[in-house]
Amino acid sequence: MITAFQLANMIFTGVDALGKVPESIKMQGLKKPLIVTDKGVVKVGLVKKVTDVLESEGIAYAVYDETVPNPNERNAEDSFSLYQKEGCDCLIGLGGGSSMDAAKACGILATSGAPIESYRGMGLLKAPLPFYIAIPTTAGTGSESTCAAIITNTRDDHPWKMVILDGRLLPNVAVIDPMLMVGLPPAITASTGMDAMTHAVEAYLSIGAMEYTNALALGAIELIFQYLGRAVGNGNDMEAREKMAYAQTMAGIAFSNAGLGLVHSMAHPLSAFYHFAHGFANAVCLPTVLDYNKVVCREKMAKIARLSGMTELGNNPEDAGVEAIQRLNDLVGIPRTITQVATMMGTTVDTKDIEPMSKDALNEVSTVTTPRVPNLQDVVGLYNRCW
Ligand SMILES: NC(=O)c1ccc[n+]([C@@H]2O[C@H](COP(=O)([O-])OP(=O)(O)OC[C@H]3O[C@@H](n4cnc5c(N)ncnc54)[C@H](O)[C@@H]3O)[C@@H](O)[C@H]2O)c1
Ligand SMILES: [Fe+2]
Repeated sequence: MITAFQLANMIFTGVDALGKVPESIKMQGLKKPLIVTDKGVVKVGLVKKVTDVLESEGIAYAVYDETVPNPNERNAEDSFSLYQKEGCDCLIGLGGGSSMDAAKACGILATSGAPIESYRGMGLLKAPLPFYIAIPTTAGTGSESTCAAIITNTRDDHPWKMVILDGRLLPNVAVIDPMLMVGLPPAITASTGMDAMTHAVEAYLSIGAMEYTNALALGAIELIFQYLGRAVGNGNDMEAREKMAYAQTMAGIAFSNAGLGLVHSMAHPLSAFYHFAHGFANAVCLPTVLDYNKVVCREKMAKIARLSGMTELGNNPEDAGVEAIQRLNDLVGIPRTITQVATMMGTTVDTKDIEPMSKDALNEVSTVTTPRVPNLQDVVGLYNRCW
């Protein structure tokens, strides 16, 4: 069987990799990037770091900083309006997955045209994006090296997350600079780190997994078990920040090629209905969904347990894999239930939403590659167990 394996054209990685941005633009003969970012990233001074680097090389730029967490169609449209108004010719996505995905959506409108909704699904873009440089500032989504953009549809009868998949969404350049992640607060470090863990685990268990993706997924799982606790405990631990930065990109490449699973399918409705941060939505569902999956992937679950450092796996080694993930969640302060996540995020949840959320989860593209095929009652049951 022929399978494809894709990643960003160029990945600059390491402390101060940010310095590679100007030459990446100049080499293409481009003149003016639109930086797509959010207010939080501006506030911690990271946009200034990028604009300083651009100014030092005489490169003009414009900034769109209105991206919201779990970005929506308005972010795509408004950033594209600014892109046109400012006469930009390339894009920089700077921030977490929200900003990097908003930049991808802006690029889709620039070269494929509106409406953004029409590209939900696989391979529906009409043309490549404008030249796109992705610069992650969280160690989580891996969007800097994935073929995905996740945009919330707020115009249907209820909000839902549209997954746009297309090889042309892979950035031309990814800049993985751990210095940009040093200031991430512990809770965001924890939740985005568990998003990366979910990518790695779901890619490994996916029915689309292959040798290349397994190598990257297993490498990422091991690094995250080793270093996420340290990065959460001490944000200035540069070794931990560096390893997490690489792990999230490895996990992103793995899932972009292997697909994801039911954890992401259940997490997206939680973010669409209740604005849960993506990482918390995944992390709170992960142990329960793994417990459901384990009967069809016993050996892989045992391998996950071993990568966590467990040596005594007992008679049911697959249970040890679930336990290893739950222990990491506990270590980094992820709440054990959806209700507790809601309280932490200052929002409320309602069990009447479980049925529509379960239907949306079943329709998610990630459900296609999940290792144990669920029906509606299974998903309802899993939400109830997590609630
Ligand atoms: N395209 C993909 O492949 C892919 C994969 C997974 C998730 N996603 C999407 O990514 C989004 C989530 O992204 P995320 O988890 O990175 O969070 P995010 O981008 O929403 O950012 C979370 C918060 O962290 C702040 N922040 C970012 N970097 C910071 C830093 N260095 N210091 C201090 N604060 C900082 C931001 O301002 C924001 O308030 C979701 O919409 C999700 O669906 C996309
Ligand atoms: Fe994710």
